[in-house]
Amino acid sequence: MNNNFIGVFDSGLGGLTVVKSLIETMPSENIIYFGDIAHVPYGTRSREQITEYVMQDVSFLQKFSIKAMVIACNTADSIARKRVEESCSVPVFGVVEPAARYAAETTKNNKIGVIATNATVNSGAYKTAIEKYNPHAQVYAVACPLLVPLVEEGRFRRGDEVTERVVAEYLEPLKRAGIDTLVLGCTHYPLLMDIIGDAVPGVNIINSGETAARLVKTELEAKGIENRENPNPVRRYFVNDSKDEFEKHASLFMGRSLETAVEQVEV
Ligand code: DGL
Repeated sequence: MNNNFIGVFDSGLGGLTVVKSLIETMPSENIIYFGDIAHVPYGTRSREQITEYVMQDVSFLQKFSIKAMVIACNTADSIARKRVEESCSVPVFGVVEPAARYAAETTKNNKIGVIATNATVNSGAYKTAIEKYNPHAQVYAVACPLLVPLVEEGRFRRGDEVTERVVAEYLEPLKRAGIDTLVLGCTHYPLLMDIIGDAVPGVNIINSGETAARLVKTELEAKGIENRENPNPVRRYFVNDSKDEFEKHASLFMGRSLETAVEQVEV
Protein backbone atom coordinates (compact mmCIF):
# COMPACT_ATOMS: atom_id res chain seq x y z
CA MET A 1 0.00 0.00 0.00
CA ASN A 2 1.52 3.30 -1.10
CA ASN A 3 -0.28 6.64 -1.29
CA ASN A 4 2.24 8.42 -3.48
CA PHE A 5 1.20 9.66 -6.90
CA ILE A 6 1.58 7.97 -10.23
CA GLY A 7 3.21 10.72 -12.28
CA VAL A 8 1.97 10.91 -15.87
CA PHE A 9 3.07 13.24 -18.65
CA ASP A 10 2.38 13.94 -22.29
CA SER A 11 2.84 16.73 -24.82
CA GLY A 12 -0.68 17.98 -24.11
CA LEU A 13 -4.15 16.55 -24.02
CA GLY A 14 -3.53 13.16 -25.59
CA GLY A 15 -2.10 11.56 -22.46
CA LEU A 16 -5.52 11.91 -20.89
CA THR A 17 -6.58 8.84 -22.88
CA VAL A 18 -3.89 7.01 -20.91
CA VAL A 19 -5.09 8.56 -17.62
CA LYS A 20 -8.58 7.34 -18.52
CA SER A 21 -7.27 3.78 -18.80
CA LEU A 22 -5.18 4.13 -15.63
CA ILE A 23 -8.24 5.26 -13.66
CA GLU A 24 -10.42 2.49 -15.09
CA THR A 25 -7.79 -0.10 -14.24
CA MET A 26 -6.70 1.34 -10.85
CA PRO A 27 -9.50 3.53 -9.49
CA SER A 28 -7.83 4.04 -6.10
CA GLU A 29 -4.55 5.46 -7.32
CA ASN A 30 -3.59 9.11 -6.82
CA ILE A 31 -2.50 10.57 -10.14
CA ILE A 32 -0.64 13.71 -11.08
CA TYR A 33 -0.62 14.73 -14.75
CA PHE A 34 1.50 17.20 -16.64
CA GLY A 35 0.59 18.28 -20.19
CA ASP A 36 3.32 20.23 -21.99
CA ILE A 37 0.83 22.25 -24.00
CA ALA A 38 3.38 25.01 -24.58
CA HIS A 39 5.25 22.62 -26.87
CA VAL A 40 2.58 20.36 -28.36
CA PRO A 41 2.86 18.59 -30.79
CA TYR A 42 5.99 16.52 -30.20
CA GLY A 43 5.33 14.23 -33.14
CA THR A 44 6.66 16.61 -35.79
CA ARG A 45 9.79 17.68 -33.87
CA SER A 46 13.43 16.54 -33.85
CA ARG A 47 14.77 13.92 -31.44
CA GLU A 48 16.87 16.56 -29.64
CA GLN A 49 13.92 18.88 -29.14
CA ILE A 50 11.60 16.12 -27.98
CA THR A 51 14.21 14.87 -25.50
CA GLU A 52 14.73 18.36 -24.09
CA TYR A 53 11.00 18.85 -23.52
CA VAL A 54 10.57 15.38 -22.05
CA MET A 55 13.32 16.01 -19.50
CA GLN A 56 11.55 19.22 -18.44
CA ASP A 57 8.30 17.26 -18.01
CA VAL A 58 10.11 14.69 -15.88
CA SER A 59 11.78 17.34 -13.67
CA PHE A 60 8.43 18.97 -13.02
CA LEU A 61 6.84 15.71 -11.86
CA GLN A 62 9.88 14.86 -9.74
CA LYS A 63 8.96 17.76 -7.44
CA PHE A 64 6.09 15.65 -6.15
CA SER A 65 6.05 12.40 -4.19
CA ILE A 66 5.68 9.94 -7.02
CA LYS A 67 6.02 6.16 -6.90
CA ALA A 68 6.00 5.58 -10.67
CA MET A 69 6.47 7.60 -13.84
CA VAL A 70 4.25 6.97 -16.87
CA ILE A 71 5.32 8.34 -20.24
CA ALA A 72 1.80 8.76 -21.63
CA CYS A 73 2.97 9.83 -25.07
CA ASN A 74 4.06 7.44 -27.77
CA THR A 75 6.38 9.99 -29.32
CA ALA A 76 8.10 10.82 -26.02
CA ASP A 77 8.38 7.13 -25.16
CA SER A 78 9.77 6.19 -28.59
CA ILE A 79 12.45 8.85 -28.46
CA ALA A 80 13.42 9.48 -24.86
CA ARG A 81 12.54 6.39 -22.82
CA LYS A 82 16.16 5.64 -21.93
CA ARG A 83 16.85 9.18 -20.75
CA VAL A 84 13.74 9.13 -18.55
CA GLU A 85 14.80 5.83 -16.98
CA GLU A 86 18.28 7.19 -16.30
CA SER A 87 16.90 10.21 -14.47
CA CYS A 88 14.23 8.45 -12.38
CA SER A 89 14.62 6.49 -9.17
CA VAL A 90 11.06 5.16 -9.46
CA PRO A 91 9.79 2.56 -11.97
CA VAL A 92 9.21 4.05 -15.44
CA PHE A 93 6.42 2.82 -17.73
CA GLY A 94 5.82 3.70 -21.33
CA VAL A 95 3.06 3.05 -23.84
CA VAL A 96 5.08 1.47 -26.65
CA GLU A 97 6.46 -1.71 -25.09
CA PRO A 98 3.18 -3.09 -23.63
CA ALA A 99 1.22 -2.46 -26.85
CA ALA A 100 4.00 -3.93 -28.98
CA ARG A 101 4.17 -7.02 -26.79
CA TYR A 102 0.43 -7.56 -26.81
CA ALA A 103 0.30 -7.18 -30.59
CA ALA A 104 3.27 -9.51 -31.06
CA GLU A 105 1.73 -12.18 -28.84
CA THR A 106 -1.86 -12.06 -30.09
CA THR A 107 -1.47 -11.75 -33.88
CA LYS A 108 -2.52 -14.88 -35.73
CA ASN A 109 -0.97 -14.16 -39.11
CA ASN A 110 2.11 -12.20 -37.90
CA LYS A 111 1.11 -9.12 -39.90
CA ILE A 112 0.90 -6.12 -37.60
CA GLY A 113 0.11 -2.54 -38.53
CA VAL A 114 1.19 0.46 -36.47
CA ILE A 115 -0.10 3.98 -36.95
CA ALA A 116 1.61 6.84 -35.15
CA THR A 117 3.23 10.26 -35.49
CA ASN A 118 6.17 10.90 -37.82
CA ALA A 119 8.65 10.89 -34.95
CA THR A 120 7.36 7.60 -33.53
CA VAL A 121 7.41 5.83 -36.90
CA ASN A 122 10.85 7.21 -37.79
CA SER A 123 12.26 6.06 -34.44
CA GLY A 124 11.47 2.43 -35.31
CA ALA A 125 10.59 1.84 -31.64
CA TYR A 126 7.43 -0.15 -32.34
CA LYS A 127 9.06 -2.29 -35.00
CA THR A 128 11.99 -3.11 -32.72
CA ALA A 129 9.75 -3.92 -29.76
CA ILE A 130 7.32 -6.07 -31.79
CA GLU A 131 10.15 -8.04 -33.41
CA LYS A 132 11.70 -8.61 -29.98
CA TYR A 133 8.55 -10.42 -28.83
CA ASN A 134 7.76 -12.06 -32.17
CA PRO A 135 10.70 -12.52 -34.57
CA HIS A 136 8.28 -13.76 -37.27
CA ALA A 137 6.23 -10.58 -37.23
CA GLN A 138 6.06 -8.33 -40.24
CA VAL A 139 5.50 -4.76 -39.09
CA TYR A 140 3.84 -2.18 -41.32
CA ALA A 141 4.21 1.26 -39.75
CA VAL A 142 2.48 4.29 -41.23
CA ALA A 143 2.89 7.88 -40.07
CA CYS A 144 -0.44 9.72 -39.93
CA PRO A 145 0.45 13.37 -39.32
CA LEU A 146 -3.04 14.69 -40.15
CA LEU A 147 -4.80 12.72 -37.44
CA VAL A 148 -3.65 14.64 -34.34
CA PRO A 149 -4.84 18.03 -35.71
CA LEU A 150 -8.14 16.51 -36.88
CA VAL A 151 -8.82 15.04 -33.43
CA GLU A 152 -7.83 18.30 -31.70
CA GLU A 153 -10.31 20.11 -33.97
CA GLY A 154 -13.03 17.75 -32.76
CA ARG A 155 -13.23 15.98 -36.14
CA PHE A 156 -13.18 12.42 -34.83
CA ARG A 157 -16.79 11.29 -35.02
CA ARG A 158 -18.20 8.71 -37.40
CA GLY A 159 -19.80 10.54 -40.32
CA ASP A 160 -17.05 13.18 -40.62
CA GLU A 161 -16.33 12.67 -44.30
CA VAL A 162 -12.95 14.40 -44.30
CA THR A 163 -11.58 12.35 -41.40
CA GLU A 164 -13.04 9.14 -42.80
CA ARG A 165 -11.33 9.80 -46.10
CA VAL A 166 -7.99 10.63 -44.47
CA VAL A 167 -8.12 7.53 -42.25
CA ALA A 168 -9.07 5.31 -45.20
CA GLU A 169 -6.11 6.63 -47.19
CA TYR A 170 -3.62 6.06 -44.37
CA LEU A 171 -4.93 2.56 -43.70
CA GLU A 172 -5.13 1.43 -47.33
CA PRO A 173 -1.56 0.01 -47.48
CA LEU A 174 -2.10 -1.83 -44.19
CA LYS A 175 -5.31 -3.35 -45.50
CA ARG A 176 -3.56 -4.42 -48.66
CA ALA A 177 -0.81 -6.01 -46.58
CA GLY A 178 -3.46 -8.14 -44.85
CA ILE A 179 -2.78 -7.10 -41.25
CA ASP A 180 -4.86 -8.82 -38.57
CA THR A 181 -3.70 -6.48 -35.76
CA LEU A 182 -3.39 -2.70 -35.65
CA VAL A 183 -1.64 -0.75 -32.88
CA LEU A 184 -2.92 2.74 -32.20
CA GLY A 185 0.55 4.14 -31.52
CA CYS A 186 -0.59 7.64 -30.63
CA THR A 187 -2.54 8.96 -27.67
CA HIS A 188 -5.11 10.73 -29.89
CA TYR A 189 -6.16 7.76 -31.97
CA PRO A 190 -8.48 6.03 -29.45
CA LEU A 191 -10.92 8.86 -30.16
CA LEU A 192 -10.95 7.68 -33.78
CA MET A 193 -11.76 4.09 -32.81
CA ASP A 194 -15.11 4.04 -34.66
CA ILE A 195 -13.73 5.47 -37.90
CA ILE A 196 -10.62 3.30 -37.77
CA GLY A 197 -12.68 0.20 -36.95
CA ASP A 198 -14.94 0.85 -39.94
CA ALA A 199 -11.91 1.26 -42.21
CA VAL A 200 -10.30 -2.07 -41.22
CA PRO A 201 -13.15 -4.42 -40.32
CA GLY A 202 -12.14 -7.64 -38.60
CA VAL A 203 -8.77 -6.29 -37.52
CA ASN A 204 -7.86 -6.44 -33.81
CA ILE A 205 -7.22 -2.85 -32.73
CA ILE A 206 -4.91 -2.23 -29.77
CA ASN A 207 -5.15 0.90 -27.65
CA SER A 208 -1.66 1.55 -26.26
CA GLY A 209 -3.11 3.35 -23.22
CA GLU A 210 -5.07 0.28 -22.17
CA THR A 211 -2.15 -2.13 -22.48
CA ALA A 212 0.08 0.33 -20.58
CA ALA A 213 -2.45 0.61 -17.73
CA ARG A 214 -2.62 -3.18 -17.38
CA LEU A 215 1.17 -3.38 -17.12
CA VAL A 216 1.35 -0.57 -14.55
CA LYS A 217 -1.22 -2.36 -12.39
CA THR A 218 0.60 -5.71 -12.59
CA GLU A 219 3.98 -4.17 -11.79
CA LEU A 220 2.79 -1.99 -8.90
CA GLU A 221 1.14 -5.05 -7.37
CA ALA A 222 4.27 -7.14 -7.90
CA LYS A 223 6.29 -4.48 -6.08
CA GLY A 224 3.67 -4.15 -3.35
CA ILE A 225 3.26 -0.42 -3.95
CA GLU A 226 -0.28 -0.37 -5.33
CA ASN A 227 -3.08 1.59 -3.68
CA ARG A 228 -6.17 -0.57 -3.34
CA GLU A 229 -8.29 1.22 -0.78
CA ASN A 230 -8.53 4.92 -1.27
CA PRO A 231 -12.07 6.30 -1.13
CA ASN A 232 -10.96 9.79 -2.22
CA PRO A 233 -8.23 9.45 -4.81
CA VAL A 234 -6.39 12.71 -5.53
CA ARG A 235 -6.02 13.75 -9.16
CA ARG A 236 -4.08 16.86 -10.17
CA TYR A 237 -3.70 18.19 -13.72
CA PHE A 238 -0.98 20.72 -14.61
CA VAL A 239 -0.29 22.57 -17.85
CA ASN A 240 2.31 25.19 -18.78
CA ASP A 241 0.25 27.50 -21.00
CA SER A 242 -3.29 28.85 -21.13
CA LYS A 243 -5.45 26.16 -19.56
CA ASP A 244 -8.71 27.13 -21.28
CA GLU A 245 -8.39 24.91 -24.35
CA PHE A 246 -7.09 22.04 -22.25
CA GLU A 247 -10.00 22.31 -19.86
CA LYS A 248 -12.45 22.60 -22.72
CA HIS A 249 -11.31 19.46 -24.51
CA ALA A 250 -10.19 17.32 -21.56
CA SER A 251 -13.52 15.53 -21.19
CA LEU A 252 -13.35 14.26 -24.79
CA PHE A 253 -10.05 12.53 -24.09
CA MET A 254 -11.03 11.37 -20.59
CA GLY A 255 -14.53 10.26 -21.51
CA ARG A 256 -15.81 12.35 -18.58
CA SER A 257 -15.06 15.71 -16.99
CA LEU A 258 -11.97 16.21 -14.86
CA GLU A 259 -12.45 15.80 -11.11
CA THR A 260 -10.59 19.04 -10.32
CA ALA A 261 -9.62 22.35 -11.88
CA VAL A 262 -6.54 22.40 -14.11
CA GLU A 263 -3.53 24.19 -12.61
CA GLN A 264 -1.36 26.41 -14.78
CA VAL A 265 2.35 26.52 -13.93
CA GLU A 266 5.58 27.86 -15.36
CA VAL A 267 8.02 25.11 -16.20
N1 DGL B 1 1.00 12.41 -27.61
C1 DGL B 1 1.54 12.23 -28.94
C2 DGL B 1 1.77 10.74 -29.20
O1 DGL B 1 1.19 9.89 -28.57
C3 DGL B 1 0.65 12.84 -30.01
C4 DGL B 1 0.63 14.35 -29.99
C5 DGL B 1 1.98 14.96 -30.30
O2 DGL B 1 2.47 14.82 -31.43
O3 DGL B 1 2.53 15.57 -29.38
O4 DGL B 1 2.56 10.41 -30.04
